[in-house]
Amino acid sequence: LTKWTVLKTSAKVSLVAGMTYGCYEMYVQRHPLVQAETDPEKKTIVILGSGWASTSFLKDIDTDHYNVVVVSPRNYFLFTPLLPETTVGTIDVRSVIEPTRFIARHKSRSVKVIEAECTQIDPENKVTHGLLGRYLWKILDSLITTYLDNSDVKEEHAVSTLCYDYLIVGVGAMSATFGVKGVEEYGCFLKEVWDAQKIRTKLMNCIETAAFPDQTPEEIDRLLHMVVVGGGPTGIEYAAELHDFLVDDLTSWYPELAGKVKITLIEALPNVLPAFSKKLIDYTESTFKEQNISICTKTMVKEVHEKEIEVKRPDGTVDNIPYGLLVWATGNTSRPLVRDLMQKFPETQQARRGLAVDEWLRLDGSEDIYALGDATATRYAPTAQVAAQQGKYLARLFKQLAVRENLEIELMNASDEEEVAKKERKLRKVKDVKPFQYSHQGSLCYIGSDKAVADLSLGPGGSLASGGVVTFAFWRSVYISSLFSTRNRALVITDWLKKTALGRDISRE
Ligand code: FAD
Ligand code: NAI
Repeated sequence: LTKWTVLKTSAKVSLVAGMTYGCYEMYVQRHPLVQAETDPEKKTIVILGSGWASTSFLKDIDTDHYNVVVVSPRNYFLFTPLLPETTVGTIDVRSVIEPTRFIARHKSRSVKVIEAECTQIDPENKVTHGLLGRYLWKILDSLITTYLDNSDVKEEHAVSTLCYDYLIVGVGAMSATFGVKGVEEYGCFLKEVWDAQKIRTKLMNCIETAAFPDQTPEEIDRLLHMVVVGGGPTGIEYAAELHDFLVDDLTSWYPELAGKVKITLIEALPNVLPAFSKKLIDYTESTFKEQNISICTKTMVKEVHEKEIEVKRPDGTVDNIPYGLLVWATGNTSRPLVRDLMQKFPETQQARRGLAVDEWLRLDGSEDIYALGDATATRYAPTAQVAAQQGKYLARLFKQLAVRENLEIELMNASDEEEVAKKERKLRKVKDVKPFQYSHQGSLCYIGSDKAVADLSLGPGGSLASGGVVTFAFWRSVYISSLFSTRNRALVITDWLKKTALGRDISRE
């Protein structure tokens, strides 16, 4: 056998194995197994949210041990890292969302999915005690109130309450405005699907209005000035996508306007991407300069008006900048539900950033509420990486909890001494779950023109900082492999190919 034949044969075998696996995955996804019914003997876990933290928990929780209910105002999981690409039509919104019911349908026991917003958590209410065999158990009739934001449903059915034994709070955070006036009214956030759709519509509004005959040059300049506030990864990735859209598509379809489009990024700190290494910050800033994206650092937005924003420059002067589109990406703040829950534990819940939890993600001050992801105030950054790892960890912790509880019940019911000793030995063997430990894989950020920056972690103490086109290829492969389903992977790859072959769609929806 020559080396060449061995290579050819192994390539063929890998291809066939890959295709077989792909087909099997698709078959399993379309034909889930029959599910067990809800079991009234088992404890109920209510999961709030369908984002990174909650979905990762849902995927891994062992439903043989629990009944599970998911409550979220959106009935899908959103793959946020690719959200900036949807604002200019590089990929379609539907390619980066996954229905929660689809994930729930693949669990061994049927999971209830309720599309509603939780408006109140009542951890104190109705604690009753009952007896099951020789084991004293507690029915925690703690309640949450849910609100269905759907006008098709009659008013009287719109509010409902749910009981839980364990509550998992994974409601994330919302966009921060720091009380700057006018942001909510005139700016666009970039956090949810509807934000991306709003940005796309507003962007095309500005361009089409600027193309309308007989506009004054000042008005055209204003309409074509796109301002991004916040130089964190969200702001940088949006500005980068906007630049690509301008160069790849707008230049062809609006040749008379393309040269007049201006992109400005405003950041309060001395540099953008504060969490990245100095080398990558410099690389990003120089790439933005080449792309004609102006970066105004040490500049604070003080107020937003309908057509202008008021900024304070580094020298203390106050300036008014006319704009057409304003994207506000200045980070996160807690949701009202989270603030309300914190008030119910005034002694233990005083963190500014969100819910305080112990090292096992249990809410400080509570026995049966757990919290994870952006809703919490931990030492970790509010990222998808952290949220997903916490969800996975918590599912493992709950499995261990169930095994332990079952053994405790068996121990209570054991009749003779030998059996008791056997059960006690078994119980001792059930290891305590170690506290949650985050493993940082690195940070990635797209910076435009098919370039990305990556700060990768290479084990204890080691790191690698890289930027450029090769890093962009790595960025894409990481996100493709992290997408939650084969369906999403296929759709995103197709969208990327479609964009390369046919360009982005510029029609205004
Ligand atoms: P979320 O994912 O925000 O989910 C919260 C869930 O709670 C949602 O389903 C929401 O509908 C639901 N909810 C809200 N209110 C209620 C309520 N009252 N009752 C019930 N449910 C409720 N991180 C990375 O690590 N890498 C990246 O590349 C990256 N890119 C990003 C790009 C963008 C544009 C953005 C905005 C963020 C990005 N992040 C990234 C950060 C990451 O998305 C968040 O850290 C992550 O989403 C946090 O997960 P979570 O589950 O805590 O919250
Ligand atoms: P961020 O908190 O990371 O950055 C916000 C920026 O806005 C800060 O640099 C802040 O100085 C600036 N700012 C605040 N107020 C301002 C004002 N009035 N005027 C001017 N600038 C102001 O927020 P971002 O980018 O939304 O990210 C949120 C979280 O999501 C972070 O943890 C981030 O790491 C993560 N994320 C990660 C991505 C990735 O890894 N590629 C992509 C997007 C988000």
